[in-house]
Amino acid sequence: MDKNETYRMLALQVESLIQGENNPTGQLANVAAILHETMRWWWTGFYLVRDDELQLGPFQGPVACYSIKCGRGVCGTAWQHDRTIVVPDVEQFPGHIACSSLSRSEIVVPLHNGQGAVVGVLDIDSKELSTFDDVDARWLEEIARIIERHALKTQN
Ligand code: SME
Repeated sequence: MDKNETYRMLALQVESLIQGENNPTGQLANVAAILHETMRWWWTGFYLVRDDELQLGPFQGPVACYSIKCGRGVCGTAWQHDRTIVVPDVEQFPGHIACSSLSRSEIVVPLHNGQGAVVGVLDIDSKELSTFDDVDARWLEEIARIIERHALKTQN
């Protein structure tokens, strides 16, 4: 199956998995699980804005750092500039935070509440170089919009 088709199905599955629930932690945990299981990435999860920093949220994969300051690492940079960041080689990203020495490439997508403020990020790591491209960015942003609609509207 081509990548677009896989993501198209994944987006539908994510929506049916989290719609109608009122449990953001559980919903984000299930999104991490379905993305990780389907795509077999190395680390798939969420950091959420709390007390002016990104704090570790639901994830699948190896243990990870608990907190990231605004502007630090890939996650803190995506938060600061409110934009998706695709990193083909983490060693080339100044300030990359290596939670796992096996991570080689990464994508981070900001998540917003109903007011448009960034309330967290979706962070995905791969053990291979250049795993993520514009197709991944487009679909993961689409999935981020689904997560926002069903789980983050009233998050602050
Ligand atoms: N690499 C991230 C830190 C989080 S881990 O990848 C799970 C960063 O540079 O922000």
